Amino acid sequence: MFDIGVEQLMGRGVPGGRSKGVAGDREGILAGLKQGAYEKMTQERETQDGGVKPPLQGESAGESAASGRGTFYLETFGCQMNEHDSEKVAGVLLARGYRQVESVDEAGGVLYNTWSIREQAARKVFSRLGEFRPDLVRAREEERSLQGLKPDITCDRMSDLKVRPPKDERTQESPSLAGGEESGAGARSQVPVGDSHRDPSTRDARSGRAPSSAGRIIGVLGCVAQQEGERIFTRAPWVSLVCGSASYRKLPQMIAELEAGNRRVTGLETDTDETFETEVTRRDNPWRAYLTIIEGCDKACSYCVVPFTRGPERSRRSASILEEVRKLADAGYTEVQLLGQTVNSYADPSARKMRFSDLLVAVAEVRGIRRVRFTTSHPRDFGKDIVEAIEAVPGICEHVHLPVQSGSTKVLRAMARTYTRDEYLEKIAMMRAAKREISITSDIIVGFPGEREKDFEETLSLLDAAQYDGAFSFKYSPRPNTPALKMEDEIPEEEKSRRLAILMERQREIQRAHNERLVGKTFEVMVEGKSRREQQWSGHTSSNKVMNFTSREEESLGDYVQVRVVSTTPNSLVGEVVG
Ligand code: 5AD
Ligand code: SF4
Repeated sequence: MFDIGVEQLMGRGVPGGRSKGVAGDREGILAGLKQGAYEKMTQERETQDGGVKPPLQGESAGESAASGRGTFYLETFGCQMNEHDSEKVAGVLLARGYRQVESVDEAGGVLYNTWSIREQAARKVFSRLGEFRPDLVRAREEERSLQGLKPDITCDRMSDLKVRPPKDERTQESPSLAGGEESGAGARSQVPVGDSHRDPSTRDARSGRAPSSAGRIIGVLGCVAQQEGERIFTRAPWVSLVCGSASYRKLPQMIAELEAGNRRVTGLETDTDETFETEVTRRDNPWRAYLTIIEGCDKACSYCVVPFTRGPERSRRSASILEEVRKLADAGYTEVQLLGQTVNSYADPSARKMRFSDLLVAVAEVRGIRRVRFTTSHPRDFGKDIVEAIEAVPGICEHVHLPVQSGSTKVLRAMARTYTRDEYLEKIAMMRAAKREISITSDIIVGFPGEREKDFEETLSLLDAAQYDGAFSFKYSPRPNTPALKMEDEIPEEEKSRRLAILMERQREIQRAHNERLVGKTFEVMVEGKSRREQQWSGHTSSNKVMNFTSREEESLGDYVQVRVVSTTPNSLVGEVVG
């Protein structure tokens, strides 16, 4: 919710993330970049020893041509962790000489980094994959040849691997993607055949044409890969690579296998204790770096697929984290965001045994780092030491995302959230009592099986008590393999929608009142985006509020400015630069 304003300006995806950002906006941003910063944004990369290598784009393009390496298109669905995984995946491929391109048309390999936390997200992936169904591809090629256009084939090493379905599959009717993405009992989604035909968003972003699979590697990464596994090959036989996030370290090897002639490769282990650390991460934002410090999740909330798709919790050694932060600071990054599904459950695997709160302090103390953010925190592991660290160290941003999910202890128990309403509210009280005002945000699910009107009202009253600065709210979505799938007393869809609308309206009012209090106050804002409108800029406060502001000066992206709030909306602040 908070990110909307800036995402529209900046985009967060890797190049080619069709749902993210608009080319024109990017140009708008460029107008405000510090000299050389654009090169940094698009081309710089860290080397193993922390230095900055020559521009990646140019270098890799040159190497690519020289070595005959291919091109890849990478599109990311879902959460911040997926976005960051994509940065690492891109880094791995770029280091091997592949070149990242912005459209499917140009790409020898097409990779979708997927998300399946709610059904709709997973469905979208299969709709995307449906674009490559051989009969649709053939029809498009025929249409193109009738129009006198070249067949849509890119000739490079990746695309030279003629990835074809086996004979038996080729002679069969192509399996329809209809029938939903759920494999087990329970919710079934219907993806209409040819849905992708009708959805203009699935067209190639640059050319406006639908893509072709001819000669391409089509890979599915991330949550849907882990969840559906080899079933993806049955539903979409034109897919040649399926790899869950716990196996990304094997990606180079898997790609090598495809290059060596293997038709299909999979990486679906989750019982690894390795985290996904790469020598090269292709970061998309030149000032804010994301860093995964803990992967997977052991919490087993009864509605959630993450423990199945991302595997058990694995923390990264504190020394390795701090070493990377130092390199990032040397490369000019001023903000780091520590990521984890339950980031505050971090458990240093090294002898140093650094607590999460100590790690926050240590990261903030790295020379050149001005802001440290962290997300997402789990209430169970959220202790006073974290609040004390925020109080003591200005570089640790005063924002905590602490999802509650429900305000009813009965529903929380059914969700296996491991805390009661009162225990949760105690954590809120602890934060509200801090010397520094802490901005608190949350995630809430409505319509969980068995959620009575009384339970829902308890969620509404929790909103009043918690006074969140922001909340992401969702209708419960039944997910495969999860215990909640078998729970009785499903809530009808219309009722879920009704509750969601009421909840969102209540929260909107809370945010409106909250933000109004801030008029006249001054905050430090990182300049992150430039509006098309003259002298208008956008960024975040340390408390993670979106600030849209005017300035008489030409501001430089990545700089920090002091902005006074002149008016507010429920989702953002409007201000002007002071001084
Ligand atoms: N249905 C609806 N929302 C869900 N979330 C996770 N699983 C589900 C589900 N099955 C929400 C939770 C979580 C956020 C990332 O997504 O609120 O905090
Ligand atoms: Fe899912 Fe619960 Fe883990 Fe969050 S804490 S990722 S909701 S299982």
